[in-house]
Amino acid sequence: MRIVRTIAALTLQLAGLAWAGDSVCATCHRQQAQHFAATPMALALSTATESDILRQHPDLSFQEGAYRSRIVRSGEVSVLTVTDAGETLTVPLLWAFGRGQAGQTYVFEHNGNLYESRISFYNALGALDLTMGAMGSRPQSIEQAAGRKMDSVGARDCFGCHSTGGVSQGRLHVEGVSPGVGCESCHGPGEKHVAAMKTGDLAAAKMPRLSALGAEEMSEMCGQCHRTWSQIASTGPRGVNNVRFQPYRLANSKCYDAADRRIRCTACHDPHGSLETSLVKYDAKCAACHAAGTGRKICRTAKANCAGCHMPKLELPGAHAQFTDHQIRIVKAGEAYPN
Ligand code: HEC
Ligand code: HEC
Ligand code: HEC
Ligand code: HEC
Ligand code: HEC
Ligand code: HEC
Ligand code: HEC
Repeated sequence: MRIVRTIAALTLQLAGLAWAGDSVCATCHRQQAQHFAATPMALALSTATESDILRQHPDLSFQEGAYRSRIVRSGEVSVLTVTDAGETLTVPLLWAFGRGQAGQTYVFEHNGNLYESRISFYNALGALDLTMGAMGSRPQSIEQAAGRKMDSVGARDCFGCHSTGGVSQGRLHVEGVSPGVGCESCHGPGEKHVAAMKTGDLAAAKMPRLSALGAEEMSEMCGQCHRTWSQIASTGPRGVNNVRFQPYRLANSKCYDAADRRIRCTACHDPHGSLETSLVKYDAKCAACHAAGTGRKICRTAKANCAGCHMPKLELPGAHAQFTDHQIRIVKAGEAYPN
């Protein structure tokens, strides 16, 4: 059974309640803060000036039909130049989205609007290629060859998932953006909690206890950004294009139980730590349910490395990267991708 619920944190965030900022949380919660600061989530956005990828690749170029794009570093600035037979468009890049595990996409301003760059940097290529969302289209003008104009909702959502504090009253305020996912992205605004803790009034403003969430509630919380089951089930992409939406994939697995905490996101992932990449480390998570004496089925094929066979890594078209299919299952050779 699935219960679809929106958790308070998101609602509060959109209502624009007061943000304290990670550095304030760090004064009392040093362990979580130190741990979290090095994760891709914490580094999901940077200014173009601070982007390691742009620093390390001072001259990038890409050809698409008649259009030639170059991103050239000059001092602390990276400038995008697009040329065709007659025209040239030159803009400084402002923001670098994504740590770059898979790739990094740029945002710039042109005639008062924010644009998402049509080209992105891909780690596996060490070079530029089309941004995923741009693959199905052909540019009709030099502006379109440079990027996609974002409307105010699109820009708000983009920054809302990759940064903290920039969205209030449902609108984006770029000057308030604190780059990267922050404590309050998951925990909700903490200003009241901070004030109460400073005066030693522990009862006055407790933070919501996220450790008490069930599988479905946790999926909805992480799904604010990783997308919820219902978002993908209703309007999400079909086929392997939805492999990166873990809350959706996981809920479609026979292992999933909305009320069982052993299958929630944080049963397998430390929300404050880096992603565990040794698959053997996940075996104990499976064994919490699939072990002798639990009454559940046991594997006759192998005793270790469960995720290696039952959570296959699949190539996401256009991303030049693989994602782990969270629809835990028996994978049969030659089978179609289960939607
Ligand atoms: C002045 C010190 C102080 C600051 C600053 C502070 N906290 Fe806390 N926090 C505490 C103390 C003390 C507790 C334990 C109180 C309790 O048991 O309810 C706590 C508890 C928590 C909990 C535990 C809730 C649970 O699961 O029981 C969370 C989450 C939390 N804080 C998040 C934050 C965040 C996010 C920030 C920054 C916005 C922050 N805190 C800033 C002192 C602080
Ligand atoms: C405010 C938005 C947001 C929320 C909420 C969020 N994430 Fe993320 N998460 C991201 C973004 C953005 C990235 C991509 C970061 C990058 O690589 O640039 C990411 C990446 C990750 C990664 C990959 C890290 C790696 O090393 O590749 C894991 C694992 C992850 N998130 C787990 C979670 C879990 C578990 C939750 C809920 C407890 C959660 N996330 C909640 C935005 C969010
Ligand atoms: C609903 C939340 C959400 C929105 C809106 C969103 N992202 Fe993301 N983004 C994520 C999450 C979660 C990930 C990590 C998992 C993945 O790759 O899908 C991610 C990953 C990425 C990555 C790859 C990061 C890496 O390390 O490989 C890039 C680049 C990126 N986003 C750029 C953007 C840009 C640019 C926009 C706005 C035009 C945007 N995103 C809008 C949530 C979001
Ligand atoms: C990606 C979402 C996410 C982010 C970002 C995040 N937390 Fe948490 N935090 C959680 C979840 C989920 C739990 C409950 C853990 C569990 O499932 O047992 C938690 C638990 C806590 C607790 C309770 C004690 C514990 O460790 O279980 C504290 C304190 C806390 N977080 C502080 C912070 C601070 C400070 C930051 C910023 C540096 C932060 N968190 C960033 C999701 C997040
Ligand atoms: C039963 C364990 C398990 C659960 C539950 C789980 N994951 Fe994962 N997750 C994994 C494994 C295994 C990997 C692959 C780690 C590796 O090889 O790098 C992974 C990888 C990821 C990644 C990195 C990108 C990718 O696809 O490889 C993200 C993001 C992620 N998980 C998010 C989530 C979210 C959000 C939830 C809750 C909806 C969740 N996971 C629940 C086991 C789990
Ligand atoms: C919360 C408990 C729980 C966890 C954790 C869990 N499973 Fe399951 N799993 C189940 C249940 C329930 C079923 C349904 C069949 C049954 O009763 O055993 C199932 C079924 C399966 C099946 C058979 C699926 C099919 O298509 O017939 C496989 C394979 C499987 N699990 C592997 C895993 C692996 C690998 C992990 C760890 C990455 C894992 N499970 C984690 C509860 C769980
Ligand atoms: C080498 C690949 C591989 C590894 C590693 C692996 N499995 Fe399996 N597993 C399979 C195959 C293939 C089947 C289906 C054939 C069968 O029924 O035995 C299966 C079946 C299952 C089933 C369903 C059994 C049934 O009676 O229907 C469960 C549950 C399961 N595995 C869990 C696990 C767990 C937990 C682990 C880690 C301890 C694991 N698997 C490791 C390949 C693997």
